[in-house]
Amino acid sequence: MQTYYFREDELSQAGAMLAKGECVAFPTETVYGLGANALDAKAVQRIFAAKGRPSDNPLIVHIPSKEWLSQLVVDFTETSQKLMETFWPGPLTLVFKKSERVPAEVTAGLDTVAIRIPSHSWARAILKGAGVPIAAPSANRSGTPSATTWEAVAEDLDGRVAGIVCGPPTEIGLESTVVDATLSPPRILRPGKITYEELAKVVPEIRDYEPALKGGEESTEIRYKNSPGLRHQHYRPRARVILLNDCEPLENASLSDRSCYIGLDEPLDRSRYLKCTVVGDIESYGERLFDTFREADRMGADCIVCQTVPRTGLGTALMDRLTRAAG
Ligand code: TXA
Ligand code: MG
Repeated sequence: MQTYYFREDELSQAGAMLAKGECVAFPTETVYGLGANALDAKAVQRIFAAKGRPSDNPLIVHIPSKEWLSQLVVDFTETSQKLMETFWPGPLTLVFKKSERVPAEVTAGLDTVAIRIPSHSWARAILKGAGVPIAAPSANRSGTPSATTWEAVAEDLDGRVAGIVCGPPTEIGLESTVVDATLSPPRILRPGKITYEELAKVVPEIRDYEPALKGGEESTEIRYKNSPGLRHQHYRPRARVILLNDCEPLENASLSDRSCYIGLDEPLDRSRYLKCTVVGDIESYGERLFDTFREADRMGADCIVCQTVPRTGLGTALMDRLTRAAG
């Protein structure tokens, strides 16, 4: 398949291609998404084929405004009302009871559907142009790090999708926070840019995301049932990811001479690394993480040393991606 590369003045054409049932990748404020008409089961199947995504992993549906919700969901909880008012448009995905119009392909057979309104101006223009709700997982091959630049999308999906929109690099770099507001109390299923602390200001009873490490068998089972995507491998570069809890011990150990580094602090010895990415704060760490993984792979690195951060605020999402990447 020949992939068409859309420029900034061709967003309405990108929308039209989506409306015809094709797959088009486009930028959002979090990561690039690979879109298709969420009401067209055949179009949605093309997403799974292009990504090599397991069909039991449901997709997020993207809409340009709240008026579009009524065709997709059957009822809102008071919690979801409050969260929508506070955090939409933006990097928060909410899980609702789905309407009959949403095909089982989108939700992997669940009776719920995950929805968000992106804040990115390009994404909004494309969604309006398409005129239909757009299902869009991250625009990467299944299992690899999410794409934060159009070049990264092209690396994974050139020749496998009808179109790629050549937008700017994404500002956030980590995927949206997923909250299941059909549960009582509501629960964070995937940590992201909107933090537990911010959510709890609006919905004090909300349950924080529990990393698999903490939960026993039973809670793992419940979580997988509610968010099947968490069961699959994610965010893995080819290079081995090593987490650095405390600079000293690992940096003193023998490291391959084809290693890269990312962290908030200077490494003990820069000269040991092919490339060092020292970031100023946790926001920039999130913004740079996936691109650093991809760049390390392009350089042929065999290991990436990543400094860990405290699991609070945005650190929860960052540590989630880091621990998954490290396997
Ligand atoms: O920031 C983002 O959310 C990006 C951009 C493109 O919007 N999208 C994204 O999609 O990260 P994806 O497919 O990589 O992740 C979707 C997550 C998965 O963890 C999936 O299990 C969960 O959302 N999910 C989707 N539908 C669900 C549902 N009905 N119930 C629970 N979890 C659901
Ligand atoms: Mg993904």
